[in-house]
Amino acid sequence: MSRSVAAALLAASVAIAAGAQASAPPAVVAKKCALCHGERGESAGEDFPRLAAQHEEYLAKQLRDFRDGRREGLMARMARGLPEEEIVAIARYYAGQPVPAPAAPASELVPVGRFTYLRGNPWSGVPACRTCHGEAALGTALLPRLAGQNAAYLERQIREFTQRKRTNDNEVMHVIAERLTALEARAVAEYLAALR
Ligand code: HEC
Ligand code: HEC
Repeated sequence: MSRSVAAALLAASVAIAAGAQASAPPAVVAKKCALCHGERGESAGEDFPRLAAQHEEYLAKQLRDFRDGRREGLMARMARGLPEEEIVAIARYYAGQPVPAPAAPASELVPVGRFTYLRGNPWSGVPACRTCHGEAALGTALLPRLAGQNAAYLERQIREFTQRKRTNDNEVMHVIAERLTALEARAVAEYLAALR
């Protein structure tokens, strides 16, 4: 083997090792979370939210809310007793994962969802989602990214905001969600799932 080929191979293996190290999940992710949310936050199915590229502060806040019982449901059990260092490590890890391919292909409802997202419904008083979640649905520190999220999860959250079943911080989204028709809720969820 020529010396330059050997050097190139060595450089490549060092780069691979560094990459693997940077993205190695904290032990708790593989043990307790990956089953549903995926090792890299890509999610194992429609009902489980994608956590990849979600905002770190938002993830940590939701986990604290689940842990302390402010946000109820299945996840409250999963987060019970999670130590603060693990919450911080999990949130940082998932936030740092690359955006997976869109959760769903574009559907016939996408144009309706696009209108709702960008313009709201001026006839029924739904504000444009864009004003808070951002033009491209990327969110901000405490405002969730919605782009590429699973449609079934989004639709269920909208319903839970309507019924105040999402028990933490539902003040803002409650008044918005309750004005959406079932068709608009599904359409906006399908629009978002097809975004990247
Ligand atoms: C058995 C499946 C399952 C496991 C295991 C699980 N989750 Fe979840 N997770 C869910 C479901 C379902 C939801 C949606 C919650 C809801 O609708 O109330 C969720 C929601 C979340 C959310 C909120 C996302 C958002 O956009 O608001 C976070 C954060 C989260 N899980 C993190 C974790 C972490 C960290 C672990 C490991 C400690 C974990 N989950 C383990 C099923 C699971
Ligand atoms: C006035 C600002 C504002 C507007 C307008 C708004 N949202 Fe939100 N939305 C929020 C905030 C804040 C949260 C985080 C709630 C929390 O902290 O629990 C949120 C959360 C959500 C979530 C939960 C995401 C997750 O990962 O669990 C969904 C879904 C959502 N919004 C959809 C929409 C849709 C669809 C529209 C337009 C019809 C919309 N929002 C308009 C502020 C807004």
